[in-house]
Amino acid sequence: MGALRKVFYGLAGLAWLVLATPVHADTASSATLREGQKLFTENCAPCHQEDAIGAPGIAPSLTNQELLSISSDKFLEATIRDGRLDTGMPPFAHLGRSKVRAIVAYLRAHAQRPSLAEEVDAEPDAYGDPRLGKLWYDNICSTCHGLDGNGYFAGGTGTAIGLPGFLDKVSDGFIRETIRTGRSNTRMRGFLGPGALANLSEREIDDIIVYLRGLGERYPEE
Ligand code: HEC
Ligand code: HEC
Repeated sequence: MGALRKVFYGLAGLAWLVLATPVHADTASSATLREGQKLFTENCAPCHQEDAIGAPGIAPSLTNQELLSISSDKFLEATIRDGRLDTGMPPFAHLGRSKVRAIVAYLRAHAQRPSLAEEVDAEPDAYGDPRLGKLWYDNICSTCHGLDGNGYFAGGTGTAIGLPGFLDKVSDGFIRETIRTGRSNTRMRGFLGPGALANLSEREIDDIIVYLRGLGERYPEE
């Protein structure tokens, strides 16, 4: 009996030691964050700048609060993996999935707002008139995003929102929310309602999205 008791307390003590050691998940995630930061500095900072604040006409901010709150991990991971064809954003598939995820974890560590990605992606598809959308687009958006939505290559500071590299990876909700609220500390302003840059209505924003989707369809599916 005495011997068994000793074994029992011995095991219990061991279990306590194991359980009382700092949670492993935490250590792993701070290691992941360090790895993500290192990978970011090596691979991304030359364009996206330190702390991923971006630079007009070179690469967008990736630590922008609006972007982080509406983008799903799936969107970020797939964009990093595939890059954006016909823009300055190269593909990083060679890094492999776990390194791409570490970079996303590092970017996410800058988020100060709760994620709205699920709600935004669940919004209904845009419904509207592409001819009206084109008028708004040409008048307001094309100066920065290019007349064909080709982005920086057209000489502006806005990204290539008329190309499949962007359009094939985002929901209409993502585009809608970006046009509504813009992205703080960048040249992308909010356009919804009075007080916004152009006082657009929800309906006019949808017209623009339908027009953009049409621009994306100029390219045959691979
Ligand atoms: C050679 C410059 C360059 C490098 C290096 C680069 N990017 Fe980019 N990145 C860009 C450009 C330019 C864009 C905008 C493309 C467009 O016009 O749509 C972009 C866009 C993005 C976007 C989409 C952001 C948005 O607002 O929708 C993500 C995410 C991104 N890059 C992540 C990364 C990560 C992570 C790395 C490193 C693994 C990286 N990029 C390396 C130039 C670069
Ligand atoms: C004054 C310049 C400017 C104007 C005008 C402008 N944008 Fe932008 N837009 C930007 C910039 C700059 C970004 C990316 C933010 C960054 O660089 O970090 C952006 C980002 C976006 C994005 C997200 C793209 C991505 O890669 O994730 C969408 C969608 C968008 N703009 C739509 C529009 C629409 C629609 C209009 C017209 C109603 C418009 N923008 C007008 C500068 C502009």
